[in-house]
Amino acid sequence: MRAAVLPGLNETLQIRDDVEVNGPGPGEVRVRIAASGVCHSDLSLQNGTLPHPFPVIPGHEGAGEVLSVGDGVTSVKEGDHVIMAFCAPCGDCPSCLRGQPNLCNVIMTDSLTNPRFVVDGMPHWGYAGNGSFSEEIVVRAEAAIPIPEDVPLDVASLIGCGVMTGVGASLNTAKVTPGSSVAVFGCGGVGLSVIQGARICGAAEIIAVDLLESKRENAKKFGATYAVSPNDLAGLSMQLTGGEGFDYAFEVVGLSSTIRAAWDATRRGGTTCIVGAGKIDDMVMFSAFEIFYMERNLIGSWYGSADVRRDFPRLLRLWREGRLDLEGLISQRIDLSEINEAFEALKNGEVIRSVVQFK
Ligand SMILES: NC(=O)c1ccc[n+]([C@@H]2O[C@H](COP(=O)([O-])OP(=O)(O)OC[C@H]3O[C@@H](n4cnc5c(N)ncnc54)[C@H](O)[C@@H]3O)[C@@H](O)[C@H]2O)c1
Ligand SMILES: [Zn+2]
Ligand SMILES: [Zn+2]
Repeated sequence: MRAAVLPGLNETLQIRDDVEVNGPGPGEVRVRIAASGVCHSDLSLQNGTLPHPFPVIPGHEGAGEVLSVGDGVTSVKEGDHVIMAFCAPCGDCPSCLRGQPNLCNVIMTDSLTNPRFVVDGMPHWGYAGNGSFSEEIVVRAEAAIPIPEDVPLDVASLIGCGVMTGVGASLNTAKVTPGSSVAVFGCGGVGLSVIQGARICGAAEIIAVDLLESKRENAKKFGATYAVSPNDLAGLSMQLTGGEGFDYAFEVVGLSSTIRAAWDATRRGGTTCIVGAGKIDDMVMFSAFEIFYMERNLIGSWYGSADVRRDFPRLLRLWREGRLDLEGLISQRIDLSEINEAFEALKNGEVIRSVVQFK
């Protein structure tokens, strides 16, 4: 089987054709991946921002077709089209029972304790319970969410991470209200999805903030009503809010400096929502005074606070009605052999999403 292997930290991806995957055992499914998007979190796996054991098959934004199912699996059957979820509810752990299905750790824990890929007789992990830069993968059945057959699988793959994360941050985590003002730091695939989510929620002003002019101007196609460089945001805030600050500010970069900037851009009593995935030791400073006095809500957002069983179909319905642009997020469709170049292009801000297509 063909797959991209990341042997270790900061190494180049190796394209191999001798990768095997065990299973499906009881409760598992084997999926033939048709398409897999390249997300910034794959770069963060490679450069160590997000810790993970090696060697690993990256990729966690995939969609494909079920090849076979293990004993006891009833949620999907052979031939079903599915989107891979890197976090899907088991249904009966404390997080699931509390109604926070995106915080269910069962799939993540399972994938970390159960490396299913084998190369040269050595176990290899699948990234974040997936490993979708591989022709075939085996996952727990909960991680394969069935979708209608007429949805193109390249478009569907983006829902598996970036779109669910971003749109969900607006709809589920921050719960953006109609007529509100929203600033979004970082206009990559996830940030553009936050912007689309804010538009779906009925925000009045949506401000795209990015270091790169091309990225922030592109955000206007997805619902941003203003585009500014980080340095010009305070001036625009003065113009639009009288300097009070925005009702919502989303951080979709993953740095302490942009977290702090998003907090500063939020009005008193507003919401600062952190979507970017930063380093464990990148510390953010707040004064003891400002936290109580500003009464801002500082909230993290993991996987768009999604219940993937409810939200994947919901996003597809929005897409069908032309209210969620998925095609526009795809900058290029590539062969697996071009994966290292696609990582570079994302690093350099040249693309939104590269989607690996398997034959
Ligand atoms: N919370 C979650 O569950 C979750 C899920 C998926 C991805 N993520 C994270 O979301 C973040 C965004 O992912 P992506 O795929 O959209 O990445 P991306 O690389 O496509 O986009 C990041 C954008 O931020 C911009 N940027 C960089 N530094 C900036 C700064 N100082 N000020 C303003 N803009 C700046 C870049 O120009 C780029 O356009 C990453 O940190 C990723 O790991 C989090
Ligand atoms: Zn991702
Ligand atoms: Zn659970």
